[in-house]
Amino acid sequence: MKVQKDTLDKADISLLPVDPDTLDDVDAVFEELRRYSADTDGVAKRRDAAYAFFNAIPPGHPRNKKHAFLAKNDEWIVGLVDMIADYPAPGTVFVGLLAIREPLQGRGLGKALWLTAECFARDALNARRVRLAVVESNPVIGFWTKWAFS
Ligand SMILES: CC(C)(COP(=O)(O)OP(=O)(O)OC[C@H]1O[C@@H](n2cnc3c(N)ncnc32)[C@H](O)[C@@H]1OP(=O)(O)O)[C@@H](O)C(=O)NCCC(=O)NCCS
Repeated sequence: MKVQKDTLDKADISLLPVDPDTLDDVDAVFEELRRYSADTDGVAKRRDAAYAFFNAIPPGHPRNKKHAFLAKNDEWIVGLVDMIADYPAPGTVFVGLLAIREPLQGRGLGKALWLTAECFARDALNARRVRLAVVESNPVIGFWTKWAFS
């Protein structure tokens, strides 16, 4: 997954639904989320990270409410986002993971991905509220509070 960084256009993020055929692409993103994984799981990479990203859903919640995406910028895969509709209550979308490959962080892609995901949550999933949980050891709260949540 080679990226010519200079060609990235932060304004243009598209969401590609993950399916069993693209799990290798998800796994390749987790290869470049080692700092995140160390902060949250205490290991450089969980062996089942891609599988869990695609499949994990709260017990009893319908499978079709899970929406896992590869984030693309032009032809390049830059990150991941997953959302669960109507959880924990109808009209609320729960964001599981929003991540940008570590070498590409700090150039506006995370914010652009969130804005795209937020549109999807509102327009396709009819979200009126968004919730997320952040592990205390993950130094990312500032990203969310800065401009998305307060
Ligand atoms: C959180 C994450 C997606 C941010 O992506 P990014 O591409 O580096 O973020 P951006 O460059 O778009 O930053 C957008 C703004 O947030 C700020 N920001 C980014 N990360 C921040 C952090 N950890 N703390 C405080 N502010 C932060 C930036 O300074 C920028 O501010 P500006 O708009 O005033 O310039 C990225 O750090 C990541 O993938 N982390 C690992 C996964 C993770 O922890 N996800 C969150 C839990 S779901």
